[in-house]
Amino acid sequence: MRKNIVAGNWKMNNDLSQTEALLADLLKQTKTSNAEVIVAPTSVNLYKANEALKSSDISVSAQNMHFAEKGAYTGEVSASMLKSIGVEIVILGHSERREYFNETDELLAKKVDAALANNMSVIFCFGEELADRKAGNEEAVVESQIKNALFHLEALAFKNIILAYEPVWAIGTGETATPEQAQDMHAFIRKTLANKYGAEVADSVSILYGGSVKPANAQEIFGKPDVDGGLIGGASLKAADFFAIVNAF
Ligand code: PGA
Repeated sequence: MRKNIVAGNWKMNNDLSQTEALLADLLKQTKTSNAEVIVAPTSVNLYKANEALKSSDISVSAQNMHFAEKGAYTGEVSASMLKSIGVEIVILGHSERREYFNETDELLAKKVDAALANNMSVIFCFGEELADRKAGNEEAVVESQIKNALFHLEALAFKNIILAYEPVWAIGTGETATPEQAQDMHAFIRKTLANKYGAEVADSVSILYGGSVKPANAQEIFGKPDVDGGLIGGASLKAADFFAIVNAF
């Protein structure tokens, strides 16, 4: 059975004291669902977060990393550096990285390889823009993003991959895909995986939905059979809201 997962992407929010306060708040929450919980603070606060959450069942993820092991890449962080502070998960391919930092499928394929080579898990994000959906191209866009960045991998690699479908038009906009739109796309993604790797692999990969998930809409979205959780931005910055989403399963 694939896992239900709720991951919080804090993006470039929270300085050290705000991070400490949110971590303390998270530790006060009660989990009543079977979902695995992940939070992704900004890179300077990963060490702190990992120390604070070590004895809890909340895991810590990075929001990005470089593909190289080390070297002359000013401002960047490598997989082995993340591993050395106990961070074993990384979000790759977020639409904000694609849009503002020109991350291409080709670059992302290298980052995925580096993460997996370091035994990290990857939350791999992709999703169409509004113009793609208006033109009826959403499936083609999503299919090419997945194929270009992931289909060089062997089936076994998918044990360490979590997929996150995030329609760009729904991120931070308050506009959510309808549960039906999410389900349709998730089923398409699973079919795409099954065509390449077989049904067993496709059925074992968790596919998260991201884009304006809130306590008020989480249950309906998570109720769909191919939606295995969420990648939560804005609503992950308040512990009570985030856990209301975690407990929506
Ligand atoms: P949002 O962000 O929940 O604020 O829409 C989701 C994301 O970017 O992962």
